[in-house]
Amino acid sequence: MSDKKASNQMWGGRFASGPAAIMEAINASIGFDRKLYAQDISGSIAHSEMLAETGIISAADQEKIAHGLNTILKEIEAGTFEFSTRLEDIHMNVEARLADLIGPAAGRLHTARSRNDQVAVDLRLWVKQECQRVAGALKDLIAAFLERAEEHAATVMPGFTHMQAAQPVTFGHHCMAYVEMFGRDLSRVRDAIERMDESPLGAAALAGTSFSIDRHMTAKALGFREPTRNSLDSVSDRDFALEFLSLAAICATHLSRLAEEIIIWSTPQFGFIRLSDSFSTGSSIMPQKKNPDAAELVRGKTGRVSGHLVGLLTVMKGMPLTYGKDMQEDKEAVFDAAETLDLMLAATAGMVRDMTVNAAAMKKAAGAGHATATDLADWLVRNLGLPFREAHHVTGRAVALAEEKKVALEKLSLEDLRSIHPGITDDIFSVLAVQNSVKSRVSFGGTAPSEVRKQIRYWKKRLAKA
Ligand code: ARG
Repeated sequence: MSDKKASNQMWGGRFASGPAAIMEAINASIGFDRKLYAQDISGSIAHSEMLAETGIISAADQEKIAHGLNTILKEIEAGTFEFSTRLEDIHMNVEARLADLIGPAAGRLHTARSRNDQVAVDLRLWVKQECQRVAGALKDLIAAFLERAEEHAATVMPGFTHMQAAQPVTFGHHCMAYVEMFGRDLSRVRDAIERMDESPLGAAALAGTSFSIDRHMTAKALGFREPTRNSLDSVSDRDFALEFLSLAAICATHLSRLAEEIIIWSTPQFGFIRLSDSFSTGSSIMPQKKNPDAAELVRGKTGRVSGHLVGLLTVMKGMPLTYGKDMQEDKEAVFDAAETLDLMLAATAGMVRDMTVNAAAMKKAAGAGHATATDLADWLVRNLGLPFREAHHVTGRAVALAEEKKVALEKLSLEDLRSIHPGITDDIFSVLAVQNSVKSRVSFGGTAPSEVRKQIRYWKKRLAKA
């Protein structure tokens, strides 16, 4: 079946003929791994400098190699570089072009190196850079939430459990809940960077090399803390990609929960927020509609990100040590998850900054559904010494009476309340108003505006150092 094309110019020494067209199609990764061109070229330059420094190649050859690689970088960036599927991947495309440009010296670059450590170092560099980008975007999103939290530290809204109004909270407190989530995402990114900060370059195919290379030198030149310690692990480890995908999936999940809230809050039924025109779209048939498409897409794209995590976990689970071509499947997962997450983070920060908060609608909803019933029970415990279970029961009767009279709990008269428990005094009304209920929740991490402001101060300091 194989067409009689010339065998591959990089590895075809023992091959009589070229690959079948379908082999070329399944094998080639240049369609996506060209994204690694900058990392591939820096990796090669660092490798060549080390080879010259250790006397493995001559300084003159190294100069030619570096010059040629820089020319290739410019060609790729100018869009004039011709990528070839026949040359499989970014590594061989670059090396073949280097041979065109500088002749035989190009053949010395691959001394003491293999595509196995080359791709491992390229992808690590790329993922590390992406992690830094994600860290920046997370910091921006946290900053957006801190601004909104500060503005709304005392804006009352219903807090929910089971999607049922539970107790009044403040919108600032709700914003700060997301700050905590995205703060953990940020620390996961930092942890992942810390762990992936080791250079696999110089592990060669899998066993290391007999050349007297200096792996510490290339590690340092490429901005890694140190070289990896085991050559087998170096070429077969994709934990760094998995860690990136898992932190991306967790972060996407947080973004999706928020997106879901934004969608609910912006319905006319809730009316808690209004999205800006820049983050909504209209309907082609229903002129009255303004749709939260950005939020819906954030929610929808989460499936892709977590899908990529499951995809790569599944690729890796059957891999014996060390390298196998299966691992080429890591890149599209990582690239697509990264691109998707970048978009999701930016769109979310935009929505958070731009949305208009309807404090009146939030306050009205906070007062509905007898949301201060727990405050009444707490008052009975504190002022009359009732055991909480009994206070719960008494309060339940007050709620039933309010329902029967079709009024809010706080609108029951003192007489009504005293008919349920004679010990109740006028003072009870100070806790039944939502604003007071919120103000009283001063426990550490609670929703009282004073506490929320403390949390904001804490995070501002922490963010400045993050
Ligand atoms: N394109 C390959 C990948 O992404 C590069 C490594 C190929 N190594 C090999 N021995 N075939 O995994």
